[in-house]
Amino acid sequence: MAKKFYITTPIYYPSASPHLGHAYCTTLTDIIARGKRMRGFETFFLTGTDEHGEKIQKNAAAKGVTPQEFVDEIAERFKNLWKAMKISNDDFIRTTEPRHEQTVQKIFSKMVELDDIYLSSYTGWYCVHEESYWTETQVGEEHLCPECGRPVEKKDEPAYFYRCEKHVDNLLKYYDENPIFITPESRKNEMINTFIKPGLQDLCVSRTSFTWGIPVKEKEGHVVYVWLDALTNYITALGYLQDDDSRFQTFWQDPDCEIVHVIGADINRFHTIYWPMFLDSLGLRKPNRVFVHGLMMMKDGKMSKSKGNTISAYPLIERYGVDAVRYYLASEITFGQDGRFTPEDFVTRINSDLANNVGNLLNRTISMISKYYGGEIPAYPGRVNDNDGELEELTEKTIRSYEVLNDDLKVTEAYAEVMVLADRANKYIEENAPWALAKDPEKAANLASVMNHLARTIFVVGKLLSPILVEKSEALFNQLGLPEEKRTYENVHDIHLVDGLNVNKGEPLFPRLDIEAEVKEIVAMMAAPKEKAAA
Ligand code: MSP
Repeated sequence: MAKKFYITTPIYYPSASPHLGHAYCTTLTDIIARGKRMRGFETFFLTGTDEHGEKIQKNAAAKGVTPQEFVDEIAERFKNLWKAMKISNDDFIRTTEPRHEQTVQKIFSKMVELDDIYLSSYTGWYCVHEESYWTETQVGEEHLCPECGRPVEKKDEPAYFYRCEKHVDNLLKYYDENPIFITPESRKNEMINTFIKPGLQDLCVSRTSFTWGIPVKEKEGHVVYVWLDALTNYITALGYLQDDDSRFQTFWQDPDCEIVHVIGADINRFHTIYWPMFLDSLGLRKPNRVFVHGLMMMKDGKMSKSKGNTISAYPLIERYGVDAVRYYLASEITFGQDGRFTPEDFVTRINSDLANNVGNLLNRTISMISKYYGGEIPAYPGRVNDNDGELEELTEKTIRSYEVLNDDLKVTEAYAEVMVLADRANKYIEENAPWALAKDPEKAANLASVMNHLARTIFVVGKLLSPILVEKSEALFNQLGLPEEKRTYENVHDIHLVDGLNVNKGEPLFPRLDIEAEVKEIVAMMAAPKEKAAA
C-alpha cells in the first residue's frame, strides 16, 4: 500500500492581495507535496483562506462592502495566484464555507461539554491587527502591541475560555516523545521558554465586540475566536464530524499517514501550543511535524502588507517564467531560515543554476548528439571512460540523498544536491573532451559512452527538479525525445533509459539574463507592486 502524506499551508488572511512572502510559503509546500506524489506517496495538499475576524470586518467597512463580498474578492486573488504559481493543492478551504462553519460549531460545543471551554469574562489589552489579547506587562506603559507595535485597546467583555492547564502536560510529553515535532529545534525552545514555562493563561476563545465570525451556538452575541476557527481548518477540510469523512479517515486517522503543517515563524505559537491542545481535547492525534520556515525580508525588514514593501509574484512570473520564480524561492533562502529578497540575487541565482548549469548541460549534450549521431542517443555501452563509474555512482548517491533530505523537509539542501550532479556532468564533458574523441575512430565507444551517460544524467536531473520546474522539466524531456510513459520517477534508476532515443533540438530552457538590465526591471516592479498586484 502506498504511504500517505498530508501537508498544509497556513490559511491566509484575505485582507489584501497576496505577495511574494505568501507565495514563498505555498510554493515550498507545493514542492514538497509534488515531490512526495512523484515518489508514489498518496498525498493530500491543503491550502485556503482565513476569512473571519475584526480586521476583515473593519477593512470591508472601510471599503463600503460586506465582509463576505470583501473576502470573496480577495480569496479569488489567492486562488488565481496559486494557479499562476502552478500550485497543486487538492482542496482550497475557506473558513466561511458551511462545511467549515458547521464543524467549528460542533467542535466548540464538544469542548464546552468536556468543560475544556468555560464562560467567564475578560479584561485585557487587545490588538485588532494581531487579533490578540496582551497583558499589562506585555503592552508596557505606552500600551503598544508587542508583536506589531500598534496601539492596543482596553477591553472588558464576557467571554469563553479554553483551559490550557488541563492539556499542558500532554503537550510537553508530546514534545518529548516527538523530538522533530517542531522543526527547526530552536523554534521549540522558543515556545517552551517564552510561553510555556512562564505559565500558560487560559485562552480567550470567543468575542462579543464584533460579529464577523462563526456564531457560538451556546450563547447569542458571541463569535468563535478567529484562531480556534482557523486552526481547525486542517481537519474540517478533511470532513471531520461531517457525513462524508473518508478523507479524514485516510489522512488523519491513519497513524501511518505523515501529517505536516508548514507555517511561518510568526504563527508558531498557535500551531505548536494551542493546536495540539485542541486536538488533545478532541481525542485526536497530533500532527507529526510543524515545519517553521523563516520570513522573506526586504531591505527594510519583513515583507508585509502593512509595511507596503511587498513585491508581487506576477510581474516576476511574467518576465522570467513560473519555474524560475519557483526555483528562486526554493534555493535562495534555506528552508527554515530567514532570507532577504534582492533583485541581484534573483537574477544571479537563475543565471548560475538554471542557465549556466542545467540549461547549458542540456544544450551542449543535445548539440553534440545531433552533431555526432544525427540525433540518436547511442546505447549504453557499460563503463568505458575512467569517470563513467564515478558519474553513475554520484547519480545514485544523489537520488538517495535527495529522498532522505526531502523526507526530512530539507528542501533547499535536497535541490542543491541535484545542482551538484548537474555541475559534475558539465565537468565530465570537459574531462572527456568529446570533440577530441569524435576525431579518433578508435574512441567510438568512449564517445558513445559520454553521450549516453550525459543524456541519462540529464533525465535524472530533470526528474529530480520536476517538483520545482513543473514546465521546464517537460521541455527538457521533450528535448531528450523521451516518450510520456518513460518519464516516471522509477526510471531514475534505469541505466538504459535513453538508449536509442531521438533528441529534439529546442530553445534554451533558461536564456542567460543580463544582470544589470534585469536588476533595473525588478527594481521597477518593486516600486509599483500594488498596481501590478491589483491588475
Ligand atoms: N491566517 C493566519 C494563519 C492561520 S493558519 C491556521 C495568518 N495569515 S497571514 O496571511 O497573515 O500569514 C500566513 C502565512 O504567510 C504565515 O505563515 C506567514 O508567516 C506567511 N508570510 C506572510 N508574510 C511572509 C513573508 N514575508 N515571508 C514568509 N512568509 C510570510 O497568519
